[in-house]
Amino acid sequence: MHRPYLRLWRSWRTLSLLCVLASCYAWRSLARKCHALILSGGGDKGAYEAGAIKGLVESLDEAERAWKVVSGVSVGALNAMPSLHYKVGDEAEWASFLERTWMSIRKEYVYRNWPFGLPQGLLFKPSLYDSSPLQTHLHRIFADFEKKDRKLLITATDMTFATLKTWNETEPLSKLISAVSASAALPGIFPPLTIDGVAYNDGGILADLNIEAAIGRCLMDGGAKRERDVIIDIILCSPAHQPIRNVSNENTIRVLLRAEAIRNFNSAVRMLERATTTFPNASFRFLIYPNASFPGNSLDFDPEELRDMYAQGNRDAQDMVKRWRETRPEPKWPHWPFPRREDDEQPGLSKVFREAWQRAFQINPPGPPPHRHHRWFGQEATDEGQERRRNETTTTTLRYI
Ligand SMILES: *[C@@H]1O[C@H](CO)[C@@H](O)[C@H](O)[C@H]1NC(C)=O
Ligand SMILES: *[C@@H]1O[C@H](CO)[C@@H](O)[C@H](O)[C@H]1NC(C)=O
Ligand SMILES: *[C@@H]1O[C@H](CO)[C@@H](O)[C@H](O)[C@H]1NC(C)=O
Ligand SMILES: *[C@@H]1O[C@H](CO)[C@@H](O)[C@H](O)[C@H]1NC(C)=O
Ligand SMILES: *[C@@H]1O[C@H](CO)[C@@H](O)[C@H](O)[C@H]1NC(C)=O
Repeated sequence: MHRPYLRLWRSWRTLSLLCVLASCYAWRSLARKCHALILSGGGDKGAYEAGAIKGLVESLDEAERAWKVVSGVSVGALNAMPSLHYKVGDEAEWASFLERTWMSIRKEYVYRNWPFGLPQGLLFKPSLYDSSPLQTHLHRIFADFEKKDRKLLITATDMTFATLKTWNETEPLSKLISAVSASAALPGIFPPLTIDGVAYNDGGILADLNIEAAIGRCLMDGGAKRERDVIIDIILCSPAHQPIRNVSNENTIRVLLRAEAIRNFNSAVRMLERATTTFPNASFRFLIYPNASFPGNSLDFDPEELRDMYAQGNRDAQDMVKRWRETRPEPKWPHWPFPRREDDEQPGLSKVFREAWQRAFQINPPGPPPHRHHRWFGQEATDEGQERRRNETTTTTLRYI
C-alpha cells in the first residue's frame, strides 16, 4: 500500500474505533439509567393521571420516558397494570390504551348497590357498595394481556397485620388483577379483598405513593448502579392544598370520601418527603398534580368530568415538560408553583409538602437539608434510621413499613 493511503487507512481505523467506544459509552450510560413512574390513588381522578401519562409520552423522547418500573396505588395501580402488556419503550401504546379505557369507563363497571341497598351494606356486608363489577371488568379488559419486560409494583394495605403489601410483576395475571382491586378497595365503601387468606384494603391508607419500593427495584434489578441513575416521575391526583370542604351537613359516603382524601393526601406527602430524604441523590424529575381540586366526588365517573380531568392532566404534563426543557441542563424551579394562600405559613401538610418539594428540586442552596430529623408515624427518623431503611429497601426486602 502506498504511504498516503496507509496513513488514511490508519486514521480512519482510529476514528471508527473512537466512534464505537463513544457510542458504547453513550449506550452504557443510558442503559444504566432507570426511569420509574409513580402513580397515586384518587378514585375517578385516575383520568387526570391517564391524561398526564399521555402528556408525558407526547412531549418526551422515547429514551426520556422509558419507565422500567411503574408503581401504583389504588386507581394508580389500575393505570399501572396495563403497562405490563407493553415493552419498555412502547409507552405510547400504553397511554393510548389508558385513554380508550378512561373515555369508555362507566360507574356500572366499577361498583353497584347490594341487592337490598345501603342498609344491607351497612349491616350485613363489609362495605356500603359491591365492587365485584370492577373485578369482572378488569378480567375482561386484561383477558388477552401478556407480560413483557416492565417491572410493576402494586400496593395495598394488609388489614390483618396493618402493614403495607407490595405485589410485583412476577405474580400470575389473575393475582395481579386481585391486587389491583385490593389496592383500590376504599375502606367502608368497597369490601376488603382476600388474597391468600389475608384481607386487603386501599394502599393509600398507609402509602398513597410507593416511591421507595420503586427506587429499590431500580437499584436491585432495574439497571441503575447508583442512586442518581434513578429518575423518578410522580403523578398525584390531588392538588397541593386539600380543598376546604364543610362536611357538617354531608351524608355518610361524602364524609367517608372526605376522610379518605385527607388520609391519602397525608400519606402521599409523607411518602414524598420520606423518599426524598431517604434517597437524597435520586433524580426527582417531575411531580405533576392538578392546580385545583376537581368538582364532584371521586366515585362519580361522570363522562364529562372524566374528559375534563383527562384534558387537564394532559395539559399539566406538557406544561411541566416545557418548563423543564427551558431550564435544562440545570433545571431551576423559579417559583413555588402551588397556589399561595394565607394558611401557607401555618404548620400543616401544605408546608410539609412545600418543604419536601423544595428539597426534591433543590430550590434551597446546596448543603445539608434544613432538618435532619423527621417524624414518620410518630417515630423520630434519625440518620441511622434512614440508613437502616435504605439498607432494607435496597438489599433485603421491599417492605418498608
Ligand atoms: C417479587 O415478588 C415475589 C413474590 O412475592 C418475591 O418472591 C420476589 O422477591 C419479588 N421480587 C423482587 C425483585 O422484589
Ligand atoms: C358549616 O356548615 C354548618 C351547617 O350548615 C354551618 O353552621 C357552619 O357555619 C359551616 N362552617 C363553615 C366553616 O362554613
Ligand atoms: C449523595 O451524593 C453525595 C455527593 O456525591 C455524597 O457525598 C453522598 O454520600 C451521597 N449520599 C447518599 C445517601 O448516597
Ligand atoms: C388551573 O389550570 C387551568 C388550565 O391550565 C386554568 O384554566 C385554571 O384557571 C387554573 N385554576 C386555578 C385555580 O389556578
Ligand atoms: C447498612 O449497610 C452497611 C453496608 O452493608 C452497613 O455497614 C451498615 O452498618 C448498615 N446500617 C444499618 C443502620 O444497618
